[in-house]
Amino acid sequence: MAEQTLGIIKPDAVKKRVIGKIITRIEEEGFDIVRMKMLHLTKEEAEGFYAVHKDKPFYAGLTDFMSSGKIIVMLLERDNAINHWRKVMGVTDPAMADSGTIRHSYGFSIERNAVHGSDAPKTAEWEIKYFFKK
Ligand code: CMP
Repeated sequence: MAEQTLGIIKPDAVKKRVIGKIITRIEEEGFDIVRMKMLHLTKEEAEGFYAVHKDKPFYAGLTDFMSSGKIIVMLLERDNAINHWRKVMGVTDPAMADSGTIRHSYGFSIERNAVHGSDAPKTAEWEIKYFFKK
């Protein structure tokens, strides 16, 4: 059954000029890109998106980084979209990510890890609304 998830190409990957490579991979993995836009988040918008992490030690750095440059947000759809996108991204820390994953190929550090994806159906619904269904 078709499922939706939110994908983000983060500022590090935009600056590295690998948007095209990441989008090609998304299409090759069978996702439909239902909606897509380029944005430069304010610090407040980044804080709102990552509010679930507001008590974490990395929250300030993460939200500074996510508001440091342009990002691409995408509503992605295919069967098992949430888990499949997580598999294609690889684990959060690029140093631990399997070879062939996007984070292994393009990530730099646990913070500058090239892409984001929703981690569960409830989160996906909330994250998609945050960018596309306000
Ligand atoms: P993301 O999938 O966007 O979801 C939350 C983000 O927080 C995560 O990717 C990482 O970029 C970041 N993150 C998670 N753990 C750490 C950490 N220990 N240090 C810095 N950033 C982190």
